[in-house]
Amino acid sequence: MNVPVITVDGPGGAGKGTLCRGLARALGWHYLDSGALYRLLGLRAHQLGVPAEQAAALARELDVSFPVESNEVYLAGEPVAARIRTEEVGDMASKVAVRDDVRQALLARQRDFARAPGLIADGRDMGTVVFADAPLKVFLDASAEVRARRREKELLDAGKSAIFEKIFREICERDRRDRERSVAPLRPAQDAQVLDSSGLNAAEVLDTVMQWARQRN
Ligand code: C5P
Repeated sequence: MNVPVITVDGPGGAGKGTLCRGLARALGWHYLDSGALYRLLGLRAHQLGVPAEQAAALARELDVSFPVESNEVYLAGEPVAARIRTEEVGDMASKVAVRDDVRQALLARQRDFARAPGLIADGRDMGTVVFADAPLKVFLDASAEVRARRREKELLDAGKSAIFEKIFREICERDRRDRERSVAPLRPAQDAQVLDSSGLNAAEVLDTVMQWARQRN
């Protein structure tokens, strides 16, 4: 059976997670947070002292799920979202994500998430590599400054400290690594619809993409 897939790619902090969970809820579809797979892998490799060259073996063991009703991520049944959503773990993720063997090890696992009635796939290469046949591909962008401001607000709202300049620098560095890597670099698929969320709120982004989804039906 050909399961419908909507891919949402873009840089960190553009609002992909919020959009994807909103789409998955509105349509009653499944959700794949592929960034969380790379984050879990980066964190596990770091904790176990496994060098990036051996991270592909770890990738095959990850037992992960993403319920759409919450922002939680479960690793072997344990909630781990708070631990993996830091900029530090994002950085660990992007270091293992540059490796072709790691990406190959995660490919089939990501495609397994495509189950009826449909899948919302969130990441960097969902439209270009993993679900290259998807009928609707979205590339959600926002300026680095806006993305850093959103991250700063998120941290302050959670009662944590935040230094804008540091966040901005980290975001630019991760962008550079994701865009310049030779395997599956971050870029819009040729047939992607690009949406800049810099001046939009979450509801406006969701409305726009829901309209695109309806037009495809
Ligand atoms: O989307 P998120 O910020 O959680 O992703 C963390 C990191 O994982 C990204 O910076 C990127 O290096 C990597 N990633 C990737 N391919 C994906 C999803 C994430 O390389 N499909």
